[in-house]
Amino acid sequence: MKAVAVFPGKAGSIHLAELQKPSLQDIPNGRGVLVKVLRVGVDGTDKEINAAEYGQAPPGSDFLIIGHESFGQVEAVGTRVTELRPGDYVAATVRRPGSSIYDQIGTYDMTTDDTYFERGINLRHGFLTEYYVDEPEYIIRVPEGLKQVGVLMEPTSVVEKGIAQAYEIQRRLRVWQPRRAAVLGASTLGLLATMVLRLRGLEVVVMARTRPPFLNAKLVEETGARYVSTQDLTLDKASEQFGPFDLILEGTGFSPLVFEAMDVLAKNGVLVLVSVTGGDRKVEVPADKINLGFVLGNKVAVGSVNANREYFEMGAKDLSQAELQYPGWLSKLLTHPVDGLANYEKMIKLLTEEKGAIKVFVNVTKE
Ligand code: BGC
Ligand code: ZN
Repeated sequence: MKAVAVFPGKAGSIHLAELQKPSLQDIPNGRGVLVKVLRVGVDGTDKEINAAEYGQAPPGSDFLIIGHESFGQVEAVGTRVTELRPGDYVAATVRRPGSSIYDQIGTYDMTTDDTYFERGINLRHGFLTEYYVDEPEYIIRVPEGLKQVGVLMEPTSVVEKGIAQAYEIQRRLRVWQPRRAAVLGASTLGLLATMVLRLRGLEVVVMARTRPPFLNAKLVEETGARYVSTQDLTLDKASEQFGPFDLILEGTGFSPLVFEAMDVLAKNGVLVLVSVTGGDRKVEVPADKINLGFVLGNKVAVGSVNANREYFEMGAKDLSQAELQYPGWLSKLLTHPVDGLANYEKMIKLLTEEKGAIKVFVNVTKE
C-alpha cells in the first residue's frame, strides 16, 4: 500500500512510500483494529516536519509516515475486540503512552517523560496511508452523521482539551460563571474553539490579523461571535470594549501575544495556550505589571497539548451538537481537498502557499 512519508531531518523529503498493508496480528492478544483510511487533515505540524524542523522516525525506520488528523472506517477487528465493529467510522488519537504514572492511567497526553510518542509526528508512523492498525483504546467511534466532517476530530480534540482543562482548573472558584471569552487566532483551532465556547453559551470575541471581509471572519459571525482584526484594535483596546475576558484561548502561534493576553485577562480568569512554537522569538514584557495582575487577580495560565480519548469523545459530542446548532457550518471549514495520496506535492503547496485555506485535507480512499 501507499503512504506519504518524509526522511526526518531532511528538508523537503516528502515522498510516496510503498509498504506492506498492516494486519490484525500486528497487535497482540486479539486486540487489533484494522482501519481503512478515508480522509486525513494536514496542518502546520506536517509542514514543519517536511521542513525538517520537527519530527522523528520510529526506531528501526529511516522514514516517518506523516499525517495525524485521521478519519476512517473499521475494516476488521481482532477476536477480543468488543468496542468496535467493521463498518464503524472512527478517528484515532495521536499520542501513545510512555512510562510515567500519567501514561499508565490513560492520560498519556500528560506525560512527564522527556520522550513522547505521537503518530505521524514523533517516533510513530502516522495515518497518511491506506490502512492502519491499532488498539481500540486509541480509536474513537464517530457517529455516521458526522462522516463528512469527521476529519475535524483531531483538531477539535485539541480545543476540547484546552477548554476542559480551563473549566477543571476553575472549579477552584466554586461559582465560576464565565461570560466573555477571547479566542486569539481564526484558523482551524480558533474557529473550532469559537464553536465550542459558543455551544457553552459564552460571548466570544475572535481576534486575528486579517481585516474582514474574509471567510474565517464570516464563519466566526455565523456562530454569533464577534470578529476583530488586530490591525483595527489591539487586544488591550478590545478588552476595554468587549471584555474583560474570563477565558482567553491563544492559538495563533505568535508567542508574544501570550504576554498581552496575560495582561488583559480578567480577574479570576484563565488563559489557555495551545500553540506549538518551535522558534526562539524573544520579547520585552511589562513583567511587574503582568505579575501584579496575576497575583492580585488570582489569574491562571495553562498550557495544553493534545490529547487523550476523553477529549476526542467530547469532540464527537460537540461536533454533533454543532451540526444541529449551526447546520453546514463545519463543512465550510473543509476548504481545500486534495485527491489521493499521490498528490502530496499539491498538499504541501496548499499548506505553504494558500493563505485562504482553513483545512487542507487528503481524500485517501473513497468509501
Ligand atoms: C497536533 C497535536 C500534537 C502537537 C504537538 C499538533 O499539530 O495536532 O496532536 O500534540 O502538534 O506535536
Ligand atoms: Zn496538528
